[in-house]
Amino acid sequence: MAAIVITEEARHWQQVAHKVAEEVVRPIAKHYDEVQEYPEEVRRAYIENGLLGVWIPKAYGGHGAGIVALCLVIEELSRACGATGVAYAVNALGSFPILVGGSEEQKAHYLPQIAKGEKMIAFCLSEKFAGSDAGSMRCQARKDGEHYVINGEKKWTTNGGVASIYTVFAVTDPASKSRRISAFIVEKGTPGFSIKKVEDKMGIRAVPVVESHFDDVRVPAANLLGGRPGMGFKHAMQTLDFARPGVAAQGLGLAQGAMEYAVTYALRRQQFGQNLASMGVIQDMLGNMAAKVEAARSLIYRAATAVDLNDTDSINRLAAMSKSFATDVAMEVTTDAVQIFGGYGYMKDYPIEKYMRDAKITQIYEGTNQIQRLVIARNLIKDAGRFANIDAYIPRESYNAYHAVAESELAAGDEPSGAGGAPRGAQAGARSGAG
Ligand code: CAA
Repeated sequence: MAAIVITEEARHWQQVAHKVAEEVVRPIAKHYDEVQEYPEEVRRAYIENGLLGVWIPKAYGGHGAGIVALCLVIEELSRACGATGVAYAVNALGSFPILVGGSEEQKAHYLPQIAKGEKMIAFCLSEKFAGSDAGSMRCQARKDGEHYVINGEKKWTTNGGVASIYTVFAVTDPASKSRRISAFIVEKGTPGFSIKKVEDKMGIRAVPVVESHFDDVRVPAANLLGGRPGMGFKHAMQTLDFARPGVAAQGLGLAQGAMEYAVTYALRRQQFGQNLASMGVIQDMLGNMAAKVEAARSLIYRAATAVDLNDTDSINRLAAMSKSFATDVAMEVTTDAVQIFGGYGYMKDYPIEKYMRDAKITQIYEGTNQIQRLVIARNLIKDAGRFANIDAYIPRESYNAYHAVAESELAAGDEPSGAGGAPRGAQAGARSGAG
């Protein structure tokens, strides 16, 4: 499989996003961060420029440009404003369950509306007591004739309230271990569905993150994703595999954007009779930042290419690698950028502290970076059979007579003899103080 494939079409969408980012997003980023409101003019710009159809296949009204293109767009938007990057990306997250698990009818009905921007979509997986352990959710959906009735609540629904469609994960078979969860498509305005808490956040303040509540929400059985119960957890995991390179791209955009501000400021700021950019200590920081950004970029494009080429052996681990690596880079680079701005960097009238605040959440949502490393390690361990031949090169220690004694003592519930194989009586005597 090719490592990285960036098509002409993907580059086209990158340029479109760059224009939107510079002309629409950057000028208003500070204002919407302050007021913590959704930027409607940015939503209009997404729609007017066709950006919401980038990842949706042509058969369902989109541009079919793929996940590399999606990542390039997210990167460009996040370079100007992290909140805007996620406000856009979360539509991909919300629509992926339909793409990976929806029936033909569901795809044909919902995806064109999302591609045209007629409807925004959100993803409801996490709950107050089910974050990293997504499978332990409590929200329930009970079959009632030709309907399902959903009861429960969801936490951290990004785009909640703004979105018109929600992919909601709920327990349909509490007794089952692997087929416990199903996904449903719930439309805004369905009786019993409400937004009860809008979170006040450290960063990504222009996009709402809410608690969504389901009180006897009755949806037609036709809204069960894929028409088959019990597939929800699998669909959620596949969705996250598709979406995590996008969170990585958000981190990359933030890192790139903060680095650009840092260089620009370092060239302007004079101290000790020279600008900061000519100082070795600052060049050391800038050099490190640039190398990390470029490494993250390569890994993200590699992961997104794996999704586009349906490289099923690699998607899960590369998505997790790109997400954890790029978002850690985002945190490091944005923090260093604040450092280069010095005291001014800490102040809200300068643009840089927002990058650091926006970056933090990328290490947490869509699976904490600790969960990503668990996923990566599981893949590594699963594949260890491929290099099992090298086991022969690792010396094996064999048990000697001493260890055999120690083992038998342990088995008898006794302590092993001390180093040097001292007689048991001598050891016991030393403990008791007897001479
Ligand atoms: N693709 C397809 N199937 C998968 C899969 C994948 N990537 N990963 C797991 N599965 C399947 C397994 O094959 C298994 O299937 P069977 O039962 O048929 O064998 C089943 O799912 C259970 O798998 P695990 O035993 O591996 O599951 P687990 O309970 O150990 O959990 C986990 C694994 C990776 C920790 C997972 O729970 C996880 O990713 N947690 C993080 C959740 C997360 O990212 N939440 C963020 C939500 S979005 C958000 O942040 C808000 C927002 O709006 C931005």
